[in-house]
Amino acid sequence: MNEQLRADGSLRHLITLENLPRPLIERLLDRAQSLVRPLGARPPVSRALAGRTVANLFTEPSTRTRVSFELAAKRLGAEVVNLEVQLSSRVKGESMLDTVFTLQSLHIDALVIRDAEPGVPGTVAAHVAPHVSVLSAGEAHVGHPTQGLLDALTIRQHKPNFEKLSIAVVGDIRHSRVARSAFHVLRALGVADLRIVAPPALMPEPGEFPGCARHTTLESGLKDADVVMMLRIQTERIAQADLPDAARYYASYGLTSERLALARPDAIVMHPQPMNRGIEIASEVADGPRSVIRDQVRNGIAVRMAVLNEVLAGRSAG
Ligand code: NCD
Repeated sequence: MNEQLRADGSLRHLITLENLPRPLIERLLDRAQSLVRPLGARPPVSRALAGRTVANLFTEPSTRTRVSFELAAKRLGAEVVNLEVQLSSRVKGESMLDTVFTLQSLHIDALVIRDAEPGVPGTVAAHVAPHVSVLSAGEAHVGHPTQGLLDALTIRQHKPNFEKLSIAVVGDIRHSRVARSAFHVLRALGVADLRIVAPPALMPEPGEFPGCARHTTLESGLKDADVVMMLRIQTERIAQADLPDAARYYASYGLTSERLALARPDAIVMHPQPMNRGIEIASEVADGPRSVIRDQVRNGIAVRMAVLNEVLAGRSAG
């Protein structure tokens, strides 16, 4: 979807990482890296987006993504409005686009959208005025581009040579927007050995994730992996009757220290959170020395600052 780019090649919207040019991805990761600070240090602040306004429009729950988009915008000097969707007019039947046009009339420059329905960020992007940017903060099972970028940044901080990496993405791949965005960005960065590991019922349709080896056991999928990315079962996207039994799932697919020993000794463990300890991951692993899960959160704000800066500071004056 190259409608995301302006004529000069800069980013206007961020809806998907699919087909995003590698130099643009690397520019965003480099900028994000320059904004990462150790915990306890003062985070970088600027006035780069002074006078701009960012609206968060979330119709699905979110902690990390919403808070980090808000802090990212504020630390760049922008104003932020958070739409409480249960209070907004959407419950009165006002369409998403009418809400968007209202925000546009209030001089909103960027809309950050999370929605359970596929296609919403793209539809909004197709209808907004030319100066408005749309950023997906999670689109159904389809994509979560800033998560993909923060995952790539986290991997790069530990293992910069993407071409040589073996990466296992484990869990509910079928319903995961995190897995789809990881696939797009890691492919663009040259990862050749990208494996998806899931029980058959949580595997994506054939044809999805082209070129990825599919493993239905954790034991085969983790072998000699450099990076293990664990995912939550997307219960909100699965009918009650089809939900796997939690104890049985943990017995076969839960990441324990014992199973992690099958990966390379220096493998890193990732999880986008929220985590279900004792279902997809053991606490000893989540909190253990190989876990970079908290780094992912720290990197998330840097990535969102880089993206907001790219779409808003890059736009023509006005
Ligand atoms: C993820 C999401 O919403 O897709 N959370 C996040 O943004 N870090 C993962 C999940 O909900 O499982």
